[in-house]
Amino acid sequence: MNIKDLYIDFFVSKGHKQIPSAPVVPENDPSVLFNTAGMQPLIPYLMGIPHPYGKRLVDYQKCVRTNDLDEVGDTTHHTFFEMLGNWSLGDYFKEDSIKWSYEFLTSVLKIPNERLAVTVFAGNEVLNKDTEARDLWLQAGIKESHIAETVEDNFWAAGDTGPCGTDTEIFYFRSDDDIPEVFDPEDDRWVEIWNNVFMQYNRTSDGKLEELKNKNIDTGMGYERIVSALEGVNDNYKSSIWKDVISYIESLTDVKYEDNPTSMRIIADHIRTAVFISADNSGIKPSNTDQGYILRRLIRRAIRHAKELNIDINSNWDTEIAKLIINKYKKYYDELSKNEQVVYDVLTNEKIKFNRTLEKGLREFEKVSNKDIDGITAFHLFDTFGFPIELTTELASEKGLKVDAEGFMKKFKEHQELSRTASAGKFKGGLSGNGEIETRYHTATHLLNAALKVIVSPNCHQKGSNITVERMRFDFSCDHKLTDEEKSKVEDLVNKWINDGLDVNVQEMKKEDAIKSGAECMFIEKYPDIVTVYSIGDVSKELCGGPHVKNTREIGKFKIIKEEASSAGVRRIKAIIE
Ligand code: SER
Repeated sequence: MNIKDLYIDFFVSKGHKQIPSAPVVPENDPSVLFNTAGMQPLIPYLMGIPHPYGKRLVDYQKCVRTNDLDEVGDTTHHTFFEMLGNWSLGDYFKEDSIKWSYEFLTSVLKIPNERLAVTVFAGNEVLNKDTEARDLWLQAGIKESHIAETVEDNFWAAGDTGPCGTDTEIFYFRSDDDIPEVFDPEDDRWVEIWNNVFMQYNRTSDGKLEELKNKNIDTGMGYERIVSALEGVNDNYKSSIWKDVISYIESLTDVKYEDNPTSMRIIADHIRTAVFISADNSGIKPSNTDQGYILRRLIRRAIRHAKELNIDINSNWDTEIAKLIINKYKKYYDELSKNEQVVYDVLTNEKIKFNRTLEKGLREFEKVSNKDIDGITAFHLFDTFGFPIELTTELASEKGLKVDAEGFMKKFKEHQELSRTASAGKFKGGLSGNGEIETRYHTATHLLNAALKVIVSPNCHQKGSNITVERMRFDFSCDHKLTDEEKSKVEDLVNKWINDGLDVNVQEMKKEDAIKSGAECMFIEKYPDIVTVYSIGDVSKELCGGPHVKNTREIGKFKIIKEEASSAGVRRIKAIIE
């Protein structure tokens, strides 16, 4: 049985509820491009909000990390990985967490006790040494000489601020050598496989640790790592996870894995991540900004390495690799089957686009590469020929040249700012900023949506929304031009609700419960399994990422300034608040 299934079954047998993996593109957190850790979607619950599935949770979570994109190519780096995790939200703490981790590893995965070792927190000027964790490991069966203490590696935080705590890390001895009597965490034959965080603090912006409402457990086990460790391979790409993909790549070329493992790993890794990003229900497509730009870089880098291996890049090598990946993972992630064709189209279209400029770009590169590449030239290669920076860097380093990556970034950021402004509002349900005025407009949008249903027709549904500090724009389904009477009644009703001083409440719930309760939502499939629902008095209830005012009185006076056709069957209202 797959380790993912064994893991879920084990923790379910210990009273945990399985929660579905959140999408790779976070729904309500524009501060990050991707989910980078299993616990990330759970931060609000670790901070104290009750979770709709209860206090004991278990899952496998898709994660994407692209900050070390150019490190991919070695034996361990991946841009996509899965994390197995179990959580206690103010329920069990260190004792059960350690006991169950040990039981899972030794009884379910059948790892011999002597192959395991752990680290615990050594203590510093702020927090005491974790003698409790140490004693619990001894009780569980880990021998004393296999317990080491560190400070740095035994404190885990989600970021500079937010939930954090000391942790205990579990290591596996992945080598045929004799197992050393004394565990040395710096000896790389010991591989870290699992991290149990005792998440009981919130780090505030001034760096202080305050107690969280609950003492939580947050554990994370990298799936890729545990599989490689148990299979005894010291190159992740030689584990069973990758066998078929690597053999398929080998079948496309005369080159063997051992001759150019770097290119093969990059292709395998990047296509897998591109599959997961493009299959995500968020509908990301290759572009020059944000997630779309990451997707573009992954695909283009994979294409360039396919060329490197003399693969005929115009053949369907990329979609065939994607197919292998989809088949392997679809049992665990529904969106892969649902969006299979989308994935193939994304790969094919991006390849066509890149092909148009790749040859010209390579010729241009030859021309400019008689010396180190400055930022402006690197940006020109990007802007005109679609060369992502790592492509230029890789080509340059093959010739022993340097690239001014900082100069490139400067130009690139200016360019991104421009594109971002042009497409403002694409995140957060049309909300282009989180300022106070935009927040007032955002709540007014919900009231307008509700008022249209009362005055015009229950069939009026939101089709789009865009907010600036000057006005709101709201598109909705409707089969006729609004009459003056309808417009003024809608305006009056919104203003009545504003004057009524209705409280705005936010609640987290399961998507199915939210829909059952009649909450309004624009694209149901775009939402994760657990959703945030905003209610305004009893006049409006919508799935939404917020933010909103606390009381409708904060909105001000609402005024419709224009009503017009937007497209067939869709009308558009522009309104202001005064
Ligand atoms: N937060 C810890 C980690 O990401 C355990 O989930 O390693």
